Amino acid sequence: MTILVLAGTSEAKEICKSLAGLGVDAVASLAGATRAPTPLALPVRVGGFGGEDGFRAYLASAGITAVIDATHPFAARISERTARVCKALHIPYLQVLRPAWVAQDGDDWTEIGDETEAAQIIPKGATVFLGTGRQTLARFAGLEGCRVICRQIDPPTAPFPFEGGEFLIGRPPFPVAREMSLFIALGIEWIVVKNAGGDASATKLTAARRLGIPVLMIARPQMPDAARVANAPEAVAWALSL
Ligand SMILES: NC(=O)c1ccc[n+]([C@@H]2O[C@H](COP(=O)([O-])OP(=O)(O)OC[C@H]3O[C@@H](n4cnc5c(N)ncnc54)[C@H](OP(=O)(O)O)[C@@H]3O)[C@@H](O)[C@H]2O)c1
Repeated sequence: MTILVLAGTSEAKEICKSLAGLGVDAVASLAGATRAPTPLALPVRVGGFGGEDGFRAYLASAGITAVIDATHPFAARISERTARVCKALHIPYLQVLRPAWVAQDGDDWTEIGDETEAAQIIPKGATVFLGTGRQTLARFAGLEGCRVICRQIDPPTAPFPFEGGEFLIGRPPFPVAREMSLFIALGIEWIVVKNAGGDASATKLTAARRLGIPVLMIARPQMPDAARVANAPEAVAWALSL
């Protein structure tokens, strides 16, 4: 039995640690999006598989007998394809999907379907904090005319894709008090986030609530109709049950 863990999240890191500790034969896969990812406890392969054909070839050559998909709640393409291919090949597949964030008292959230809708709500000239990463940055081009600050882990390799934007480099964790100081120092008037869920990155939402800053919350993409758990321990229990 060789389990493939599709990684890129804190849950994946935890799953890798547990499987390694239990001596389960498994390999982790990273897309290669982050230049210096935090180390994983399992052997790691890095980079895309080369589309569906490449993925099928990899499953066969690596002798993969089950897949735990612990990719990000917004990494919809890899999850859709993996679920579909595993079903076709009769390889057990499990998705690890943490619960979405839910607004609580004091939150001022507006849900949007995707990044392009932000410009319909945020007024020109506003100072905006994007906690959405750089990959989808170009989709915020309608925010030109605002001061847009995009936080990302790695230093930029390309200029900001539209006028008025700037990068802010930062690697989590981001404690609430530091997020509040940052938002005050930058004069943030709007925050845009993806509904990623999880405690670690909820600190910016707590900071926004305490400071009364409105949040645009990008709704989650559709995920495959497949076996699913909400956290790492449940995924490890699934692996042990195979
Ligand atoms: N989207 C986000 O907001 C976000 C946030 C934090 C972390 N991440 C992580 O960053 C990675 C890429 O995210 P995305 O939104 O670009 O994904 P995506 O749109 O669903 O997938 C795009 C392509 O990236 C490759 N890929 C994705 N995850 C992979 C993995 N774990 N191992 C090997 N290849 C992988 C695949 O390439 P091939 O077709 O060549 O196989 C896939 O077709 C994911 O692993 C995800 O967990 C994403």
